[in-house]
Amino acid sequence: MRSLNISIVGATGAVGAELTELLEASQIPVNRLRLLASRNSAGRQVRFRDEICFVEALYEIGDLETDIAFLCAGSAVSLEWAPRFAAQGALVIDNSNAFRMDPDVPLVVPQINPSVLSHRPRPGIVANPNCTTIQLARALRPLVTALDVHQIILATYQAASGVGLMGIDELRNGTRAALEGSSGPPAARFPVPLQFNVIPQVGEIDLEGVALEERKLVQEARKILAMPDLRLTSTCVRVPVENGHSEAVYLEFEKPVCLEQVHELLAQEEGVRLYADGIREGYPTPRFLTNPEDVHVARVRVNPENPRGLWLWVVADNLQVGAALNALLIAQLAIANRVVGGK
Ligand SMILES: NC(=O)c1ccc[n+]([C@@H]2O[C@H](COP(=O)([O-])OP(=O)(O)OC[C@H]3O[C@@H](n4cnc5c(N)ncnc54)[C@H](OP(=O)(O)O)[C@@H]3O)[C@@H](O)[C@H]2O)c1
Repeated sequence: MRSLNISIVGATGAVGAELTELLEASQIPVNRLRLLASRNSAGRQVRFRDEICFVEALYEIGDLETDIAFLCAGSAVSLEWAPRFAAQGALVIDNSNAFRMDPDVPLVVPQINPSVLSHRPRPGIVANPNCTTIQLARALRPLVTALDVHQIILATYQAASGVGLMGIDELRNGTRAALEGSSGPPAARFPVPLQFNVIPQVGEIDLEGVALEERKLVQEARKILAMPDLRLTSTCVRVPVENGHSEAVYLEFEKPVCLEQVHELLAQEEGVRLYADGIREGYPTPRFLTNPEDVHVARVRVNPENPRGLWLWVVADNLQVGAALNALLIAQLAIANRVVGGK
């Protein structure tokens, strides 16, 4: 296979920087890496495989030719630039919300639905799902494919990094200010200050009272799992954690559920780390997460009040599992399927 030309748009952001590091450590042969961002970051230097790359301003580049373009700069940038990169022959791997529900655009979690990327998608764009959805879908897959599920209800506990580097800064600065007794700057990335607080809103709330993140979870999980009738509902909550999303997930099955079978199904799932013995192994928490490439599942228990009910605690690194790593795995899948780099 020839070496590839790769562009990362949003390379200076939380997801783009993580992706650059994961790409560096990967086996993907890179001929030319282009790091792109806004004008504010132009000229910044990033070391990549013993070379120095200079960040370029997206709006100032002339040629868009590249084999793979990772877009990590938000929906507005993706809507404008994904078709332009694709028109120049790139396979676009888009991290934003812009194309996820487009029926012509595959929404890919390589551990779940790799076959949807067996050929080049017509628009030349592949969508990376929402961070909250990826970890949920990966934990659910073995259970909902083997057992008849009636409904799923969950609450999320989402980190500040989910809104990017400015979210982390706002949490840090706000916490510092609060500890020093001042009110600090007003909330900008969150609806109200996140420090010492929890916020039951992730994304805009619509006329039905449902937040955007809660809509995305249902729509995207149905598309990825190819279960259009999946009954799933959630309350998504922002918590003052720097990085790592957690989810308390309740599954109700059609029949009584056997804990041993659930353990077996989860233990066999690639990339899922099961904490089967809650007493000896404990449970994962976002701050002290090891193995950030895995989805961590713990507190697995049958509801003592309902033998058809099962609880799970699911934790994952939203920047890796929920974004950059999934995007990189999509690229590796596309390369393996000769969707890119085959000529
Ligand atoms: N954070 C997560 O957990 C997560 C998970 C899944 C998906 N995503 C998605 O990934 C994307 C990036 O999120 P993030 O968290 O990395 O955000 P971020 O930390 O705010 O980074 C945004 C990046 O986009 C660049 N950018 C912004 N406006 C631009 C423009 N007009 N032209 C060119 N570059 C521009 C920024 O460049 P400058 O540094 O020069 O401003 C920066 O590199 C978003 O679509 C987000 O929804 C994020």
